[in-house]
Amino acid sequence: MAHLSFILIFFLIYYSYCQQCDQSSDIARFDCYPENDATQEKCLARNCCWRQPFENRNQREKHFSAFHDINVPYCYYPKDFPTYKLQTNEQTEFGQRLRINKSETTYMPHDITDLTVDLIYETEHRFRIRIYDTIYKRYEVPLEVPVITKKANQTDYDVKINSNPFSLLITRKSTGVTLFDSSVSPLIFADQFIKFSTRLSSPYVYGLGEHRQALLIDLTEKWKKLTFWSRDFPPVENTNLYGVHPFHINPEFNRDNSTNFHGQFFLNSNAMDIDLQPLPALTYTTIGGIIDLYIFTGPTIQNVIEQYWDIIGKPIMPPFWSLGFHLCRYGYNSIENMLATVKRMDDANFPYDVQWTDIDAMSSYLDFTYDEKNFHGLPDFVRNLQANGKHYVNIIDPGISSVQSPGSYLPYEEGLRKNIFMKKFNSTELILGKVWPGITAFPDFTNPNATDWWTNISSIFHDIVPFDGMWIDMNEPSSFIDGSSDGCTMNNLDNPPFIPNVLGGSLSSKTLCPSAQQYLSQHYNLHSMFGYFEAKVSNAALKTIRKKRPFVLSRSSFAGSGKFTAHWTGDNRATFDDMYFSIPAILNFNMFGITHVGADICGFGLETTEELCTRWMQLGAFYPFMRNHNDLGQKDQDPGSFSYAAQQSMKQALLMRYSLVPFWYTRHYEAAMLSRTIIQPLFFEYPNDRNTYNIDQQFLIGRALLVSPNLKTETTSINAYIPSDVWYEFPSGIRVEKVGTFINLDAPLSKINVHVRGGFIIPMQIPGDNLIIGRGNPFTLLVVQSQWGNANGNLFWDDGDSIDSIETKTYNYLEFSLMNGTTLRIDALVTNYQDRPMRLELVKILGVNKTVTNVNINGKSYTNFLYNIFDQILLIYGLELDMLTQSIQTIQWTMTN
Ligand SMILES: *[C@@H]1O[C@H](CO)[C@@H](O)[C@H](O)[C@H]1NC(C)=O
Ligand SMILES: *[C@@H]1O[C@H](CO)[C@@H](O)[C@H](O)[C@H]1NC(C)=O
Ligand SMILES: *[C@@H]1O[C@H](CO)[C@@H](O)[C@H](O)[C@H]1NC(C)=O
Ligand SMILES: *[C@@H]1O[C@H](CO)[C@@H](O)[C@H](O)[C@H]1NC(C)=O
Ligand SMILES: *[C@@H]1O[C@H](CO)[C@@H](O)[C@H](O)[C@H]1NC(C)=O
Ligand SMILES: *[C@@H]1O[C@H](CO)[C@@H](O)[C@H](O)[C@H]1NC(C)=O
Ligand SMILES: *[C@@H]1O[C@H](CO)[C@@H](O)[C@H](O)[C@H]1NC(C)=O
Ligand SMILES: *[C@@H]1O[C@H](CO)[C@@H](O)[C@H](O)[C@H]1NC(C)=O
Repeated sequence: MAHLSFILIFFLIYYSYCQQCDQSSDIARFDCYPENDATQEKCLARNCCWRQPFENRNQREKHFSAFHDINVPYCYYPKDFPTYKLQTNEQTEFGQRLRINKSETTYMPHDITDLTVDLIYETEHRFRIRIYDTIYKRYEVPLEVPVITKKANQTDYDVKINSNPFSLLITRKSTGVTLFDSSVSPLIFADQFIKFSTRLSSPYVYGLGEHRQALLIDLTEKWKKLTFWSRDFPPVENTNLYGVHPFHINPEFNRDNSTNFHGQFFLNSNAMDIDLQPLPALTYTTIGGIIDLYIFTGPTIQNVIEQYWDIIGKPIMPPFWSLGFHLCRYGYNSIENMLATVKRMDDANFPYDVQWTDIDAMSSYLDFTYDEKNFHGLPDFVRNLQANGKHYVNIIDPGISSVQSPGSYLPYEEGLRKNIFMKKFNSTELILGKVWPGITAFPDFTNPNATDWWTNISSIFHDIVPFDGMWIDMNEPSSFIDGSSDGCTMNNLDNPPFIPNVLGGSLSSKTLCPSAQQYLSQHYNLHSMFGYFEAKVSNAALKTIRKKRPFVLSRSSFAGSGKFTAHWTGDNRATFDDMYFSIPAILNFNMFGITHVGADICGFGLETTEELCTRWMQLGAFYPFMRNHNDLGQKDQDPGSFSYAAQQSMKQALLMRYSLVPFWYTRHYEAAMLSRTIIQPLFFEYPNDRNTYNIDQQFLIGRALLVSPNLKTETTSINAYIPSDVWYEFPSGIRVEKVGTFINLDAPLSKINVHVRGGFIIPMQIPGDNLIIGRGNPFTLLVVQSQWGNANGNLFWDDGDSIDSIETKTYNYLEFSLMNGTTLRIDALVTNYQDRPMRLELVKILGVNKTVTNVNINGKSYTNFLYNIFDQILLIYGLELDMLTQSIQTIQWTMTN
């Protein structure tokens, strides 16, 4: 009898195990043992299921892309894994406040069994979920986000609460599509381990930076792990890199073939993994903070971006000069070499605006010094550049040398006096790392004294070398040693029970101990925001010192950094692969709200070649931020150092950039004011054309220019996608006949393919030697007719350098419109910046398909025009029209019937 009941119980347990572990397919498994040392025994100890995947792994392997890094887990959560139950649900002004709790704990120490869930209906298109410890206040990300106390009257989303087990389901009202569904796996909330999952609407994901990856994360057959923890490492795939942006966009494909988009932002700064799987689903695993999740319902992709930037802040309006060409290298080693480079550039007549120096110009790598021997005369060199309309930017690293002789190094001593350096855990002793100058202390830019200190020491150096911008590097923060000169503690911050898949396997790998003390919290929480706070403080310091619009370039970034800084993609290498990866990186950073972004042109590490550098200068001419930068020991790669032929190809691209600067500058204005991305992937403009979803070797500037670089060595043509629309080659004005398909385009070394889109008017300007010299030059308009004969464009113009020209409306704003293929109208809507006339000299209209017989300007007949029926181009020249003198001006033409 006893024997029988034993068997029965055993059978029942076994049966329930099977049932609880039954998943309809491998892709519905959620990883219960992400660590590297998974075994059946360790898995079962977590009360999880251990099974071989159903499908043959080897066979499956073939379908995965070359870069896949994870696969179907053997160890996964059973359906009855202990999790929370809903206890109370209270209506509040902002929505609902829930209490959830559980009795059983999980495999992670310090489970938090009582949680509060705030469901905040922030706007019609924005929903916020906050899940936190009911009793104890936990660390929260110190980002100033809008605080909503009143529930939106109307929402385009529905929220359903499952009580046992607790989960949330959010759907789009209009289509019923699932936007968020956490029922797919159990919520785990322990002190240093928070994990939850959601179903995705489609297997297409965009965003989730900073990572080196293709634009489209396609989960159709792919499992993927992305790790977030700021890290100094030359970009490679599948590693955490310099910045942290836990934001993604997910398209929803509807039955009627229309597409909506929604976005999600996980406001959390702790080390984390995001796992993606083909279900499709996404899992957040973070080791601190709270769950603070935003859902943006779009429905268009630009709506999603706008809704995201409403939370993190819009990008900074950059100074006009920073749109020019920047030249830098590590290893000029002497002012003579730098002068020779500048001379090469000038002799070859390259337009160029900004000269930079790297750490070799410092004295013993000490911040706020220069090498008076090898760079003697640097102050005069800088003043000379400035006298000729150029600008100068120098590098500053966060590590401040702590071992200089007393009284000799103010940055350190002032820092001590203002108490701004990071401390060891539970101690007043400074935590010391090692960087270029040797042993250094690290400023805590969250300390309220930091701005004064940084401004003070920057200002003193500015009196000596009057720099125009700050390049803040190494701010992950990077250290040559792990942890500190004394190692780290054994406490749970330095040794958490779970470590996301960070490079080096430890949170202190090539950075400070997580237990280090900062003003706002532990470094454990704030590490990935180091660059964010340094950029914020540097931006403020520059405003105080120069009283002009600040230019900061930061390597490390966090969500919201775009309010303060530009960004480049770090220490890339001189390879064609690196050149390609710069495009998805720059597209992603535009989504992340850091629109002023570029990659080191021609490659930082490794030796470039003339071919690669030519291609890259051509591509880089269409990065928002254009800088050629080179590593120590590599041969020169400034444009002037190459053959005459290569120089001509580079210069051609540079001249395109400079002639388009009014168009670029207006895009920055729209980014800062209207939350528009400056460069964007094709699918942003053609969301119903699935061909565009995967395109990241081409990109759009604004909505109107399509750039299709040649990214392959020793080829003279490219296969480019031309969306179904009206397109003309730029600048020739030749119409593209075949659209809506991939076509071969001629792409010899002397050419970058750029196309302009019908329906747009592009304001341009005759370039000068640099942007300051060229500012008064005449404007031109490129009018590109749509198939209906209309087009629109706009132009923002101010002094380019004032901090508050937008707030005080000290600018000009013009709109251009073409109607009926015969009337171009210029509307000067704001004309408050009247320093000099804005002379329009030339108008070029593409797609004029009948002979033009007359031109009228403001009602008066005008004879300076040229028309050719084969080109279908109308040129109206010699205009001398000041666009500011009248609020409306018209240029009209008549054509034969
Ligand atoms: C959850 O909270 C409710 C209400 O306070 C309480 O009655 C219940 O015992 C709690 N359950 C657990 C498992 O703590
Ligand atoms: C909601 O509606 C009320 C009354 O119609 C209105 O006063 C209020 O401003 C609205 N609130 C929002 C956030 O739209
Ligand atoms: C959706 O697109 C497919 C493929 O292009 C087509 O066969 C189908 O008819 C379309 N459906 C609707 C509702 O337009
Ligand atoms: C700021 O600096 C002053 C000394 O100048 C010091 O007394 C104070 O403690 C510092 N504040 C913080 C928050 O460290
Ligand atoms: C911090 O230091 C004090 C004094 O040395 C000690 O009493 C205390 O236990 C320490 N706290 C922690 C959390 O280690
Ligand atoms: C920097 O700080 C020092 C010491 O507080 C002060 O004497 C000096 O005037 C400050 N300089 C500037 C430019 O702010
Ligand atoms: C000529 O251009 C107009 C737009 O300006 C367009 O509507 C018309 O279809 C074009 N005609 C031909 C034959 O292409
Ligand atoms: C455009 O054409 C329509 C109809 O032909 C006409 O009513 C309208 O006035 C025209 N607009 C302009 C600006 O010429």
